[in-house]
Amino acid sequence: MRLLRRALLGLLVLAVAAAGVGLYFVAYPNLPEYQAPEALHYLDQWSDADRQRYYYTPQGTQVKGLEYDWFSALERPFSREKLAAPEYLARFGFLVDPRQRPSEQNPGNLPVGFARHEDDESGRAYLDVSCAACHTGELRYDGQAIRIDGGAAMHSLASTVPTLRGGAFGQTLGMSMAFTYYDPFKFRRFAHEVLGGNYERDRDQLRRDFKQVLDRLLGTAYNDWHRGLYPTEEGFGRTDAFGRIANTVFGDAIDPANYRIANAPVSYPQLWDIWKFDWVQWNGSAMQPMARNIGEALGVGAPLRLLQENGQPVPEAERYASGVRVRDLHQLETTLMRLAPPRWPEPPARRNRPGAGQPRPCALPGELRALPRAAAQAGRPPLRPGARSRMAHAGDPHLGGRHRPNRCRQHRRPPLRPQPPRLDAG
Ligand code: HEC
Repeated sequence: MRLLRRALLGLLVLAVAAAGVGLYFVAYPNLPEYQAPEALHYLDQWSDADRQRYYYTPQGTQVKGLEYDWFSALERPFSREKLAAPEYLARFGFLVDPRQRPSEQNPGNLPVGFARHEDDESGRAYLDVSCAACHTGELRYDGQAIRIDGGAAMHSLASTVPTLRGGAFGQTLGMSMAFTYYDPFKFRRFAHEVLGGNYERDRDQLRRDFKQVLDRLLGTAYNDWHRGLYPTEEGFGRTDAFGRIANTVFGDAIDPANYRIANAPVSYPQLWDIWKFDWVQWNGSAMQPMARNIGEALGVGAPLRLLQENGQPVPEAERYASGVRVRDLHQLETTLMRLAPPRWPEPPARRNRPGAGQPRPCALPGELRALPRAAAQAGRPPLRPGARSRMAHAGDPHLGGRHRPNRCRQHRRPPLRPQPPRLDAG
């Protein structure tokens, strides 16, 4: 009997130690140090007003219902420092300008793409992750930073699945919220900051609302983990956007039977010139820009309600309502039409190569040849030869295949003029 008790005690100690180690790594995420650049240079890609509009126009997403002011007031676990301090969020790869100050568009002084929207019905303001968070890049050289608007993000945003390596924003946010909720001193400081003079009156309500969001965040982490939905580490600079969108929209919002393993994280594509493409996404699957944007916004967390409390579908006419901000999406899309690709400061050093300057015939990669058939099967119009899409640039993106200028013969066609996507609704 005593032996059994000892064995059980031993197991308990081991379990607590393992949980403690896990918690330690999640609470102290393993992140690179942030070094502020000596100077941040913006390129001549568009106007300052367009840049700010792109950075901080919301699209209707929510981070599980996290309010904007809550995010600004959260402290890190085991620390009184703020989670949303620009130099801390920069360690996850989010982009900040060392000179940035709170502004009307960015009152919380948050990184690029951390926008804010007010819910029309409740009047509450939510944190809203927008396009620019994932589609803005920055290069560093010799202490200088060069901002590439519309370029690839290098952050570690999406992962909710706790790993001992830590380093993902989702986990750190969950931990900060858990510590704030369960540590009464932390919660008191937090509630004072959020509620100000209404502390006494609204404290209990705030605690209940906060717990709901925390439960949703932890519930998602548990769901992703126990179903093994994201077995491939996404890390910095990659996410399985398609898999995540599909699991959110078809799994969370409709039926758990729709969950699929998402094991194909990809890099964040650049957005200049996308309006010239007939087909976008790495797999060449999206054609209508606003439909693409709405799907993305739903996947990134714009609220959608397809089921009633009793699990039955809502009436058909109500299925279109969602938190997606269609007009703001349209504005983001049309603003992106004015984004110029970044210009390399020197002419390319390949002038003297034999055959340089001659248009070369375009190799038609296998996938591209198969595409018209696949599209026809899916009931979509086939890709015309010479149509612009990701597939026409097929090749390993990391080897620069997609950066090749469109010099091959079949790409020649008259220059395109921007035609804003139509916004017929209402
Ligand atoms: C959470 C990160 C995230 C956000 C927010 C986001 N995107 Fe993306 N976007 C991605 C990733 C990742 C891909 C590549 C996915 C793939 O093709 O598999 C992508 C692909 C695209 C593409 C296809 C580009 C091409 O060359 O094929 C377009 C266009 C695009 N996004 C536009 C937008 C716009 C506009 C918004 C805002 C309205 C937005 N994205 C918001 C991550 C994001």
